[in-house]
Amino acid sequence: MTRIETVQVGLEGRDYAVRIGPGLIARAGTEIAPLLARARVAIVTDAQVAAHHLAPLQDGLAQAGIESSTLTLPAGEATKSWAELTHVVEWLLAERIERRDVVLALGGGVIGDLAGFAAAILRRGVRFVQIPTTLLAQVDSSVGGKTGINSAHGKNLVGAFHQPALVLADTAALDTLPPRDLRAGYGEVVKYGLLGDAAFFDWLDDGAAAALLAGQEAARREAVRRCVAMKAAIVARDETEEGERALLNLGHTFCHALEAATGYGDRLLHGEGVALGCVLAFELSHRLGLCSREAPERVRAHLRGLGIAADPGAIAGPLPDADGLIALMAQDKKVRDGQLRLILARAIGAAFIAEDVDRRALAEVLAQALAARR
Ligand code: GLY
Repeated sequence: MTRIETVQVGLEGRDYAVRIGPGLIARAGTEIAPLLARARVAIVTDAQVAAHHLAPLQDGLAQAGIESSTLTLPAGEATKSWAELTHVVEWLLAERIERRDVVLALGGGVIGDLAGFAAAILRRGVRFVQIPTTLLAQVDSSVGGKTGINSAHGKNLVGAFHQPALVLADTAALDTLPPRDLRAGYGEVVKYGLLGDAAFFDWLDDGAAAALLAGQEAARREAVRRCVAMKAAIVARDETEEGERALLNLGHTFCHALEAATGYGDRLLHGEGVALGCVLAFELSHRLGLCSREAPERVRAHLRGLGIAADPGAIAGPLPDADGLIALMAQDKKVRDGQLRLILARAIGAAFIAEDVDRRALAEVLAQALAARR
């Protein structure tokens, strides 16, 4: 099949392929069969995704002679909880999923993170396959092995690194995404250009972003391929985020603060927060004299041109003041010894990890961004 691309994640002894292209859900049986010790898998999904993609997946597995059983969970961030983790693990045990079996995670980031974590701890670790159905999951969360759930103390605070055995990114699945989710996922796409590939950003800015949001298959496939290739290379060098992998969190510390302030719900989707966070990271980089004035202006203009919010003013309802947001940023996993580490940039495509960021400059940038909303 010519329209399928493959990116290899090169981790010694745990190498795996990310297959990218249209129709991969329907041919999942053929793709997955070589991994199986017996012709039986367990699928974890959510109700929204199941409505579109479960039957084609089950049919594709059946055609390859693979039996499957399915657990369908409620859609939404609240599913990444201790209660649902217990539910998934107990269900997998009741289904007699054994050490050599494979769990399939069919869905977006929530299902991938939850089912991946369940696979990591079930019988001390079983293999799993990511079948990401959102743009955000295809370009980011399904690759690299971060799995986990949320705690009352914050997002993603409980989890494990557990690499998938295979990722099937069916780009045709993006056709069923609500437009807002597709645009939100684009926040993670543009992040890759902004952090490490100016030519990719230029390509997106020259029309590819508009084409991918409009549903053009070749643009989608190429965008997913380039993001995954960049992530695969970074993960191969720094699997457990001792250094370079933190670059993938460009915009995320701002995003996490805004998500915490807005209750992790419909007021702000994760990818929307990433886009806003990228603008703020470039604004702060400029304020600190690290990059030109033009860089944040270009990022902002690019997002606005696609109809994507580039300023916190777009968020409905009240927000904390700059000090309140900084307090929320200080909860981030990247904080070390109370010092705020942020991903900043010297130019588009040239991000770096900044230690002990000047809080006064940060407060000024946030106050200005918040004032612009009034
Ligand atoms: N989403 C960032 C990472 O996987 O490291």
